[in-house]
Amino acid sequence: MVPVRPGPRSDPPGPRRGLASQHAYRNSGTGNVARAPARGWSATGHDVLLGSRRPEERTELGLPVAGLSETAAHAEVLVNATPGTVSVELLRSIGAPARAGLPLIDVGGGLSDDFTQLAHPDSSLAEEIQEALPLTRVVKTLCTMDSTAMTAPDALDGPSTVFLSGDDAEAKRTTGRLLTDLGRHPSSQLDIDGVNTARGQEHFALLFMGIVGGLGAHTFNIRVVTAPAPGGDAAARSRLPDRPADAR
Ligand SMILES: NC(=O)c1ccc[n+]([C@@H]2O[C@H](COP(=O)([O-])OP(=O)(O)OC[C@H]3O[C@@H](n4cnc5c(N)ncnc54)[C@H](OP(=O)(O)O)[C@@H]3O)[C@@H](O)[C@H]2O)c1
Repeated sequence: MVPVRPGPRSDPPGPRRGLASQHAYRNSGTGNVARAPARGWSATGHDVLLGSRRPEERTELGLPVAGLSETAAHAEVLVNATPGTVSVELLRSIGAPARAGLPLIDVGGGLSDDFTQLAHPDSSLAEEIQEALPLTRVVKTLCTMDSTAMTAPDALDGPSTVFLSGDDAEAKRTTGRLLTDLGRHPSSQLDIDGVNTARGQEHFALLFMGIVGGLGAHTFNIRVVTAPAPGGDAAARSRLPDRPADAR
C-alpha cells in the first residue's frame, strides 16, 4: 500500500491541482504496482509513502517507506497494492478499519498466487475489503492492465480505458483525479458503478493472461468502443465517459 500527502507544486493549474492540494496518498506494498503510481503521484506534487512489512529492508526504492500501520494511520488516501490473497487480513491488521471515511483504492489482482484461477470466483477482492472494512470507501481501478500501462498510457499505441468500481461517488471522484495525475485523461475513465462491479475488472485477469499468451507481452490495455449513434460522431462520442464518477 502507498499513502500520499500533498507537496508543493510549481506546475500550471490543471486537473491535478485540486487533488495535490487536498490529499495525501499512501500505498500498502512496495512492489511494482505500489511503486509505479507512487512515482507518478510524487512527480505531480503529491506526498507519497510506501508501506512495507519490513521498511528497514526497503531502502533503495527512491521513495519514502514506513511500516504498514504508520502508513495507514496518516493516509488521506490509501492504495492497496498487495497480493490479493492476503490483502484483507493485511488491511485488518494495520488498523484500516478504524479510519472512518478513508478512501481506499484497491489495485489488487483477482487471481490465485499461481495465476491459474480466480481467487474470488463468486465475488472480488474489492467487495471483500469493503465488507471487512465498512467504514472505508473502496474504489477498484487499474487492475486490468500491467504496472507500465497504469502509469504511461501515452506509451501505448492509442487511447485505452480504465475502469472505476465503488459505492461512494466522492471516493470515485478522488480516484479519478488521481488517475488524471497518472496521465489518464478523464475521457479514458469509465465508472462502471458499485463495488460489486469490481468482480468484472478482477475476473478480466483470466482474459488478460490469455492475451499475454497471444501477444507474448504484458504491456497493453483495452479500449471500450461504441457503435456510431444515429446523428453522427458527436452523438456517439457523447456516450463515452467524459469524466469518472462525478456525474453519478
Ligand atoms: N504487476 C502488475 O502489473 C499488476 C497489474 C495489475 C494488478 N496487480 C496486482 O497488484 C498487486 C501487487 O502486484 P505487484 O506486482 O506489485 O506484486 P509484488 O511485486 O509481489 O509486490 C507486492 C508487495 O506487497 C507486499 N506484501 C504484503 N504482504 C505480502 C505477502 N503476504 N506476500 C507478498 N507480498 C506482500 C510486499 O511488500 P513488502 O515486502 O515491502 O511488505 C510486496 O512488495 C497484486 O494484487 C497484483 O495482483 C499487479
